[in-house]
Amino acid sequence: MTELGSADTVYTSSAYRTIDVGSLMRTGHPDIAEGDEHIVSVVRGMRARLGRPLRVLDVGSGSGDLSLLLVRALPDTAVIANDIAANPLAQARDKLAPYPTASVSFERFEDYSGEVDVVVSWGTHHHLSHDYLKHVAEILSPDGVLIIGDEFCPEYLSDTDQKRLAQSEEIEVVDGYLFDSAADVESYRSTGRVPDWNEGLEQARRLALWHWYKFVIDFAVAHEAWTVVMAELAICRDDLETGNADEHKTSPYLLERELELNGFSVVERAVIGDRPVELSSFVLYTCRPPAVPDVRTGA
Ligand SMILES: C[S@@+](CC[C@H](N)C(=O)[O-])C[C@H]1O[C@@H](n2cnc3c(N)ncnc32)[C@H](O)[C@@H]1O
Repeated sequence: MTELGSADTVYTSSAYRTIDVGSLMRTGHPDIAEGDEHIVSVVRGMRARLGRPLRVLDVGSGSGDLSLLLVRALPDTAVIANDIAANPLAQARDKLAPYPTASVSFERFEDYSGEVDVVVSWGTHHHLSHDYLKHVAEILSPDGVLIIGDEFCPEYLSDTDQKRLAQSEEIEVVDGYLFDSAADVESYRSTGRVPDWNEGLEQARRLALWHWYKFVIDFAVAHEAWTVVMAELAICRDDLETGNADEHKTSPYLLERELELNGFSVVERAVIGDRPVELSSFVLYTCRPPAVPDVRTGA
């Protein structure tokens, strides 16, 4: 397989060709293994509720640890591990090879077609373009769900920021800056000037991230997970660089607003880890897609 992604990140770099970063993260990084368990329990509940085998797309599956847990827990479920990075996807293919209902898909999620009952986006949201939620809605079956969980930047948007964003339908991240008005985006593009509010949000994001990454890296050191330490140092650097589109974590509230703007309704919100808000990064949402209008009634 050749690389589809262009940037040199821990997911694409040849330095990680033989290292399974995804597996190492399950012990050397806080909250990921706990999030896996939560996702498996949500899919198991859905399988029981619908009473039929499911098709599950694991978007940005990395090396397939979650896909493996899903197919082991639900052997009649078709699990598709989807990623654009050749190294981890080859590792996922090896792990899933013994399971006939599992497969891999080496293509951008945005190009994936075919109906699925569950889209899982686990740790992938902050790597994707912010309009991919529209594609999720296109491929979900009518009774399908989106399970979306991420390593967010711990909530850095104040109540006032959130109230302001709740009023806007034009939320956009441009060069790493969060905008809530098309006019401000246009002005930024023509002058290069970032308004004070938007600049302040970016500074708040960086400070919140720095606090979080120190906790993550200390956790990895305490677990003697040195590969995770190195990977997280690189990821932290990328994330603190405002305009780095490959690594840009935003806040849980922002995803909630984006879900709302795209017509998704949240049926469950689970925060992983029992810590203060500044050290709460992993949040998982189970969401119903936008209702398809009834062609007979238009409702
Ligand atoms: C943090 S990793 C996700 C880890 C994985 N879900 C797990 O459970 O271990 C993010 C992944 O998203 C993938 N990715 C980025 N853009 C993508 C896209 N457009 N379509 C599919 N995968 C993408 C990256 O290659 C990377 O492997």
